This record gives sequence, C-alpha cells and structure tokens, in this order.
Amino acid sequence: MIIKSLQLQNFRNYEHLDINFDSKLNVLIGKNAQGKTNLVEAINFCCIGKSHRTSKERELISFNQESAKIKVIAEKSAGEKKVEIFLSKNSKKVIRINNLSILRIGELFGNINSVFFSPEDLKLVKESPVDRRRFIDIDISQMSKVYFYNLLRYEKILAQRNKLLKSSFDSNQAMKGLDVWNEQLAQVGAKIILERQKFTQHLSKLANKVHSSITDGQENLILSYTGLQGENVDSLYRQLYELLDKSVDKDLQLGYTTVGPHRDDLKIVIDDIDIRSYGSQGQQRTTALSLKLAELEIFKEENGEYPVLILDDVLSELDTNRCNKLLDSIQNVQTILTGTSFDFDYPATKYLINHGTVKKL
Ligand SMILES: Nc1ncnc2c1ncn2[C@@H]1O[C@H](COP(=O)(O)OP(=O)(O)OP(=O)(O)O)[C@@H](O)[C@H]1O
Ligand SMILES: [Mg+2]
Repeated sequence: MIIKSLQLQNFRNYEHLDINFDSKLNVLIGKNAQGKTNLVEAINFCCIGKSHRTSKERELISFNQESAKIKVIAEKSAGEKKVEIFLSKNSKKVIRINNLSILRIGELFGNINSVFFSPEDLKLVKESPVDRRRFIDIDISQMSKVYFYNLLRYEKILAQRNKLLKSSFDSNQAMKGLDVWNEQLAQVGAKIILERQKFTQHLSKLANKVHSSITDGQENLILSYTGLQGENVDSLYRQLYELLDKSVDKDLQLGYTTVGPHRDDLKIVIDDIDIRSYGSQGQQRTTALSLKLAELEIFKEENGEYPVLILDDVLSELDTNRCNKLLDSIQNVQTILTGTSFDFDYPATKYLINHGTVKKL
C-alpha cells in the first residue's frame, strides 16, 4: 500500500497543506516545533481514527479556528482509498471513506494501514501493561473488525459488572446479578484472550528475527502473553468464568473486577532477563523498534502488501550502525521518516518543514 497524498486544512499548525509522497523513503526534515510530528499525526489519524498524542480532538484544530479537515489518498492493490476526517469544535467528527460517511469508527480500520513509531513508543516496553495491551489491541483491530467489536463489548460488560460491584450493599442480590455479567464477560473475554495469544506467538517469532538482525545476533528477544492459556475459546471460557466466579468476594471488597484480559500483559524478555525491569535504555529502544518492524511483517502476511511505515524522530535515538541496519531493512516499504537532519547515503525524497509549510528539496 502506498500513501499518495495528504491534504490538511486548519490542522494544528497547518493552515493549508498539500503534499505528495514517494513510494519509497520520504524524509521530513525540520527544526524543532515546525510541524513534523503534526503531519504524521494527521496521517495516522486517518488510519486509526485517533491521535497518538491526545484524546482531546479539539486540540487538533488550529488555534482560533472552529474546524479542521484531513484527507489522505492511498493506493492499494484493491484500488484507491480516500479517507477524509472533518473535525469541529461544535459537533461530532465525520469520517468519509471514498465519499461515504461511516457510522462506526470500526469501519475505518483496514482502509489505510500504518505502523507508527515515535519516541513515546518507548512506553511500550518501559511502562504499564495498559500501553502493551493497547499496542496488541490496535494491531489486531486493524486486521479484525470482529475483534474490535468484541473489545468494545467487553468494556461495556466490564463497566456494568464494576458498577454493580461498587453499588452493592446486599451481597446476595449482587451475586445473582454478577453471575449474569460473569458469564457474558467470560464469553467475550475468551475470544479476546485467544486472539491475543495467537497474535503474541506470531509477533514473538517475527520480532526475534528483526531484533537479532539489528543487534548483529547478540540478543534473543522473546514475547509471551501473560494471563490464561488455552487452546480454544471453550477452554478459555470455562477458565475465565471460574476465575471470575472465584474472585467475586475480593471484587466486591475492592469494587472492581480484578481478573480478566483487561489485566493481562505482554512479557518481554531478552536472554532470560525481563527487559521492562532490567533492560538498558538502548535495549528498550531497540526492542520497541523491533516490535514495530515485526508488525510490518504481520500486516504484509495478512493483507498481501506492506502498510506505510511512519518513523517519527527515531534516527536521533539510535547509533549510526543501528540506523544503517534499520534503513537497510525498510527498503521495500513506503516510509515517512522525520528528523532534524538526514545525513545518510540512502536514496530519499526529502521535504523541508518550516512553520507549518512544506517544500520539496
Ligand atoms: N492546535 C494547534 N494550532 C496551532 N498550532 C499548534 C496546535 N497544536 C500544536 N501546535 C504547534 O505545532 C508546533 C509544531 O509541533 P510538532 O510537534 O509537529 O513539531 P516537530 O516539528 O515535530 O518538532 P520536534 O522536532 O520538536 O519534534 C508546536 O510549536 C505547537 O505549538
Ligand atoms: Mg516531533
């Protein structure tokens, strides 16, 4: 898949932007605070329907403006895709795909696929399980709408169960109500866990390969899914139902649900060492990058074509050797890379970003 063009109106510091991309390496060069991240944020917004930086979408609209527009045109083997997003301070956002408005955000997934890597993605390795679950969930959702809707359903049921746990003074009454939610939660939760397990196994193999290549075979990276393990939905359902049932007393005391896929994690180990607790800064950085590059391969397998790779400010964090290995490994993928400079001997289409304007170099 190739992103052919991006147009912006009143998006962050861009009043107007119209840019065409090359099918290989595109490098956006500019000083700090010129709009490099804003530009790639807009592209990613058209892929997943949200910003990687903020959940407050009004922040995306230029200061002193009421509305903003993003338009991305991509070329896929199945044909052209046009995604337009209209943001307004006074009304809900509108998303159109090939001129048709969509009703649910899930319909956006899979139209324009991207793998996005920014310095914040170090969180993926370093910080709480929430970030790793989000990583897995966004990936699987882009490949499976059913998974995305299951996630939404799970969250709804979980909220209902938690509400009951919090409000229950009569525990006999609560037990009856909770059993209904336990069953529903276990049904949807089992499907989520199974998909996450499969995805993690696959991701682990691919990330191991990439990581080994970037580190010259020095490091052995292994990922695993923590939480219930099961071969199929039925077995996971039974286990999860039992676990929820057993945790009722504790959950009633605490007022929230303490077990289930919303508490699981992705464990990341290099040479038997948990990288989150013991990894060096460089190991954590490279690991996050390996995870993202593994994503590329998964998408290729699923869709028969690569998504666009977006690397925001990544080269400045790696040593020259690793930068070269990275650039070698992405030769066949359309890449949009940002940085304050680009001093590598690689063929690239370069653009200068200056105060919300773009000039092809
Ligand atoms: N809603 C908005 N309206 C107008 N300008 C905005 C808005 N949101 C952010 N900006 C401005 O956009 C500018 C550029 O931000 P951006 O994060 O894209 O910079 P950058 O080129 O990636 O810089 P760096 O190299 O430091 O990462 C910031 O100075 C910020 O003030
Ligand atoms: Mg930036």
